[in-house]
Amino acid sequence: MKPIASFFFLISLVVCLGSLPHPIIGSSLAEQVCERSHDKANCMAWFGLDPESEQANLQQLGMIALRLASGNATDTALYIKRMLNDTSGLDPSTEQALTDCAQHYVDANQQLDDSVAALLANAQHDVNAWVGAAIADAESCEDGFKESGSQDFLLTARNAIFKQLCNNALAINKLLTAN
Ligand SMILES: *[C@@H]1O[C@H](CO)[C@@H](O)[C@H](O)[C@H]1NC(C)=O
Ligand SMILES: *[C@@H]1O[C@H](CO)[C@@H](O)[C@H](O)[C@H]1NC(C)=O
Repeated sequence: MKPIASFFFLISLVVCLGSLPHPIIGSSLAEQVCERSHDKANCMAWFGLDPESEQANLQQLGMIALRLASGNATDTALYIKRMLNDTSGLDPSTEQALTDCAQHYVDANQQLDDSVAALLANAQHDVNAWVGAAIADAESCEDGFKESGSQDFLLTARNAIFKQLCNNALAINKLLTAN
């Protein structure tokens, strides 16, 4: 390339790059969603776990939120399984509550799978219903400890985090419904 030609090549390259769309720095979609969350810091931390969330559109962000919730349900189901593997330190009421929770988390995971399918089909009403059912599962798990008379509320923190992850997905779904 002649010097003059390469000069113009460079200029046009700069012009092209300059006109590419920029991500909106400091006000990502995730941040706007978390603005509505009860716990913004936690909400941002969760989305930060998935690098895709920074460039995601609202529907993709909804998928990420559902994936985080479902990953957490799987994690909690495993955690329960490990505790039930050795019940020698558990009183029978606690063991019963844990056994019920294991089933609730299996159900919740299934409902989150259904939510993913609904979101992909733009069926916002169904997403709402399925995620709501998953939240109800975590609540039934928590109530099971009370009803069994167990003294050890072993899953309170996990139930709360799971519900929060589901609520993030619901908040996104609500924004999608409004669009
Ligand atoms: C269950 O307990 C057995 C025996 O203590 C152990 O070998 C096994 O790894 C445990 N499984 C899980 C999932 O913790
Ligand atoms: C799920 O949430 C619990 C806290 O309740 C946390 O300890 C665990 O690491 C989380 N797991 C996943 C896979 O998100």
